[in-house]
Amino acid sequence: MFAGMPVDSWQLLDRLPEALDRVRPLSSRQAKELPEDVAALSRLLTTERDRMGLSYWSSPGLISAYLHYFLPWNLVRLLGVLGGLPLPPVGTGDMAIVDVGSGPLTVPLALWLAFPELRTVRMHVHAMDKSIQPLKMGKALLAEMSRLAGVPVWPVHLTKSPILHRFGLGRLSGDMPPVWLVAFGNVLNELPGGAGQVLPQLQGMLHAGSAGRTPAAFFMEPGTRLGGKSIMELRSIALAEGWQARHPCPHNGECPLVRRGGSPWCHFVVDAPKVPAHLADLSVRAGLGKASLSLSMLLLGESLAGRGDGLPARVLSAPFATAANPRARYACSAKGLLLLGDAGDVGQGEQVLVQVPASPRLDPRSRAICLPRFLEGNKAGR
Ligand SMILES: C[S@@+](CC[C@H](N)C(=O)[O-])C[C@H]1O[C@@H](n2cnc3c(N)ncnc32)[C@H](O)[C@@H]1O
Repeated sequence: MFAGMPVDSWQLLDRLPEALDRVRPLSSRQAKELPEDVAALSRLLTTERDRMGLSYWSSPGLISAYLHYFLPWNLVRLLGVLGGLPLPPVGTGDMAIVDVGSGPLTVPLALWLAFPELRTVRMHVHAMDKSIQPLKMGKALLAEMSRLAGVPVWPVHLTKSPILHRFGLGRLSGDMPPVWLVAFGNVLNELPGGAGQVLPQLQGMLHAGSAGRTPAAFFMEPGTRLGGKSIMELRSIALAEGWQARHPCPHNGECPLVRRGGSPWCHFVVDAPKVPAHLADLSVRAGLGKASLSLSMLLLGESLAGRGDGLPARVLSAPFATAANPRARYACSAKGLLLLGDAGDVGQGEQVLVQVPASPRLDPRSRAICLPRFLEGNKAGR
């Protein structure tokens, strides 16, 4: 996932602490307490979610924890996936990104880091959140990072608006240039009313600003049960309303994991890349050292054409041994869950093309369609 990332993106990510030092310098006491604040915020976002009503953006310690730990790790996870997304082409004139539940502008910062060629486009960032504090810090951070990179800063427009209040759409539609991407990063799992509620407003937003182009809508969530199920719920409702799932789903049929009752849930686990030393060190001191990263994601937009011969399938699991094959993997397809027998060398998350016989054998345990030799007949489909 991280192989194609420009070296320059990692070098700039390494300089994030310099920008943070200018935007929100830590006193020596705050620096000392940072690992414990990170651990506390981690608990609040996972095991102590019932306390989440207390916004973490009003506690100085938790704000520092978000900026120094959650922001950089979310940037790393986003850097891993963004390069592989079939994003719409970027025009030469002014464009806009709308980022909902933006926090400290994490997704715009990740796009800015991931695509050096975007940094010189006049990309208007419309960032919204129910709290204004993180938006202001994110705006200042993007300005600092742009200064460090020696490029003009993207125009940033901030809107304090809860999602259910129509995203401040009225304020957006006026002079907004064509929307390139609407993004929701790690926010669906914080919506008590479920993920589907964002769609009607999303539709309005895309039409308000797209000026005849077809922008995409990108969602990323933690790879937890809650994050993955939020993405699966959103996908089901979106498809019923005429959206196309463009990534990572290889088809627009019913999600085979929904058919199985949503357990397991759709997510990907990848080896963590080598991250900047200060981030690795803080993670260990907070008791949150990471060997792997997990995430769930979805890109909605218009449909993909011309995928070649065969049924597209997305590899979902690490290799495991079956009675017939030591390196089998599960994959997702429009025909349901597949059990690929000889898939040890195919990466998790990779899309392959498979041939499914008219009367396939089903695995007695998982009920997945068994394709014991899919690679032999499908090398061209990789
Ligand atoms: C986990 S943070 C994610 C921030 C950023 N997108 C990221 O990926 O790092 C979730 C953000 O969603 C915001 N949020 C939660 N519920 C919201 C709502 N109903 N309307 C708008 N923003 C909301 C929170 O204030 C917070 O900034």
